[in-house]
Amino acid sequence: MKIERFDSKEELYARAVAIMVEAKHNGATTFGLATGGTMEPLYAKICKTDIDFSNCISFNLDEYVGLQANHEQSYAYYMHKHLFHEKPFLASYLPNGLAADPLEEAARYEALLQQHSLDFQLLGIGQNGHIGFNEPGTAFDSLTHLVTLEESTRQANARFFSSIDEVPTQAFTMGIQSIMRAKCILLMAVGETKREVLERVLASDYTENIPASVLSKHPNVMILTDLQVEEN
Ligand code: PGA
Repeated sequence: MKIERFDSKEELYARAVAIMVEAKHNGATTFGLATGGTMEPLYAKICKTDIDFSNCISFNLDEYVGLQANHEQSYAYYMHKHLFHEKPFLASYLPNGLAADPLEEAARYEALLQQHSLDFQLLGIGQNGHIGFNEPGTAFDSLTHLVTLEESTRQANARFFSSIDEVPTQAFTMGIQSIMRAKCILLMAVGETKREVLERVLASDYTENIPASVLSKHPNVMILTDLQVEEN
C-alpha cells in the first residue's frame, strides 16, 4: 500500500482527481464508485473537469435496502446528484435495494461485476474499518451480499437522515473479494474521525476484524489522507 499525506483537503482532492484522470488515460474503462461524505468533494471536482466517462461503466459499492432509487438518501440518488447528472457513464450499475429476492439480487450483481472486471475502485473507510458495507468480521472471500448494518455505521450515517430511525438496517454490498479483484484501488481517509481507524489499518495484521486490512495484500493500493499518521 502506498500512502500519500496532504496538508490540505484541497491538495488531497486535486491529487485524487489526477489519479482518476491518469487511470482513464491509461485505459481504465470500468470504475467502482463509492458514496459518503468523503466522496462529495471529489465528485464536485470531477464535475468541473473535462473528463469524459461516456465510454465507461460504473459499479457502485453498495446500496441501502428499502429505499426507492429516487429517495434522497438512496445511493442511486446520491450518484445522480453528485456525479452522473454532469458526468454520465455508458452504463451505471448499483444493487437494487428494492429487490424482492435479496439472494437473487446479490447473485445478479456479482455476476455483472464478474462479467466486466473493475479497472479502478474508489473506497472510503468507516470508523470501524469497513469498506463498502463490509462490516468487521466479514469473510475476506465474500462476494456481493446482503448485510445487517452495525449500529455504529447507522449512527455515523444518521447525519444524512432526519433521525436515526430512518436509517435502513440492511444494505447490499460488494464483497471483499469483489473489491479485491479491482486492478487498482484508491482509498481516501479524510478528517479526524478517520485517524484512529487509519492508524489501526496501518499497524494491524491482515485480520477480518478490520476489513480494510485486507488491502495490504493487494498489489496496487493508494491511500490518500490529510492525517499525519505513521506508517509501520
Ligand atoms: P464517509 O463514509 O465518507 O461518509 O465518512 C465512508 C464509509 O463509511 O465508507
